[in-house]
Amino acid sequence: MSYRQILQIIVGAGTLAIVAPAAMGQTSGDPQAGQAVAVEQCAQCHAVLPGEGVLENPDPLPFDGAGALAFEDIANTPGVTAMALSAWMTSIHPTMPQILLSEDDLNDVIAYILSLNTERDI
Ligand code: HEC
Repeated sequence: MSYRQILQIIVGAGTLAIVAPAAMGQTSGDPQAGQAVAVEQCAQCHAVLPGEGVLENPDPLPFDGAGALAFEDIANTPGVTAMALSAWMTSIHPTMPQILLSEDDLNDVIAYILSLNTERDI
C-alpha cells in the first residue's frame, strides 16, 4: 500500500466522521413510511410519486402551490441532502405552509424524497 493510499484512507475516514451525523437523517428514515406521509401531507401541492411530473392543478389556497416541485425533481436537484431538506421543513416560508411533522415522519419523508433521486450521488 502506497503512502498516498494510506493518506486517502485517513482523509476518507475523517470525512466520514464529519458527514456521519448529518447523514443520519438520511439513513434512519424509512422511505416506504415516508411515501405514505408524503401522499397524505404533501400530495395536494407536490407530485409526490416517481414519474408523476408536476401537478397541473396544485392546491391554490391559501398558498399558491403553483411553484411546488415534484419530489422527484427536488431529489434530483444538486445540493439537496437530508440536512437541506430538514432545514427546509423546519423553517417558515411564505410560499409553503409549515407542516409540523413528528421527528419520525420527518425522517421518513426525507428518506423517501432522497430515494427518488435517480440522477446524482448524494
Ligand atoms: C399547500 C401546498 C404545499 C404543501 C401541502 C406542501 N408543500 Fe412543499 N412546497 C410548496 C411550494 C409552493 C413550494 C415552493 C416554495 C418556494 O420555492 O418558495 C414548496 C417547496 C418545497 C420544498 C423545497 C423545494 C425547492 O424549491 O427546493 C420541499 C423540500 C418541500 N416543499 C417539501 C414538502 C413536503 C415534504 C411536504 C409534505 C410534508 C410539502 N412540501 C407540502 C407547497 C406545498
